Amino acid sequence: MASWSETKRRQGRRIAFVPTMGFLHEGHLSLVRHAKERGDCVVVSIFVNPTQFAPTEDFTAYPRDLSRDNRLLQAEAVDVLFHPPVEEIYPTGCQTHVEVETLSKPLCGMLRPAHFRGVATVVTKLFNIVRPHAAIFGEKDYQQLQIIRRLVRDLMLDIEIIGHPIVREADGVAMSSRNAYLNAEERKAAVCLSRSLRKAECMVRRGEASAKAIIEAVGAEIKNEPLAIVEYIKIGDLETLDEVDEIRDSAVLALAVRIGKARLIDNKVLIR
Ligand code: PAF
Repeated sequence: MASWSETKRRQGRRIAFVPTMGFLHEGHLSLVRHAKERGDCVVVSIFVNPTQFAPTEDFTAYPRDLSRDNRLLQAEAVDVLFHPPVEEIYPTGCQTHVEVETLSKPLCGMLRPAHFRGVATVVTKLFNIVRPHAAIFGEKDYQQLQIIRRLVRDLMLDIEIIGHPIVREADGVAMSSRNAYLNAEERKAAVCLSRSLRKAECMVRRGEASAKAIIEAVGAEIKNEPLAIVEYIKIGDLETLDEVDEIRDSAVLALAVRIGKARLIDNKVLIR
């Protein structure tokens, strides 16, 4: 992988990179298509990263289908599918981690304390191997995107980080590999996340600025769905993610909800 990138760089080609954990869906493919617009060649990695899963989480159960992913990427004419084995990314004796301290603590970090350390570590390793000029991340993982932006700034990596809008199913559910965990009834219930975000957006459009009022309305909307268990609903600064009481110009509304075996996240940037 590294020598392929070195050759492309010497030829003056711009490498665009899409890191994924596989089990690709239309959301990933839209990142790939965007990568093609932003680079001369595209690398997609598929690596289910063990260090971003807690021992109690779904690392082993995480859905995998490499041959289907491979077919999908070939159809998109991706230049390289990089699929390293775990022992190559984490060789014996490996003991260095990357931690984006403050940004990793709120939201998903509250219940998954080691998650973003695993993400930041693997993304740094992948960047060092793939040596991209640009990397594309989905905005569904809003906190992850802010963490990667901070990491690149703090470590002075010469990589452009590009966020790409959430891709939704026709009924509004954000695409996610973890939607595969939902049965038919749970899948229907999952609509409550995007419905509640739309409700918040309408409130802001009508002039509501109080974070408390919006969070209460979003919570009430989700609680109407008996299968949904709210993990968090927060409104925070777009960059620092610090909670805000009032939406002045804009803020991000982020939520995590459990439905059956799936933990679903979604978000919306609210603009006044
Ligand atoms: O968003 C993901 O799929 C993963 O967190 C990432 C960025 C590929 C790191 O493992």
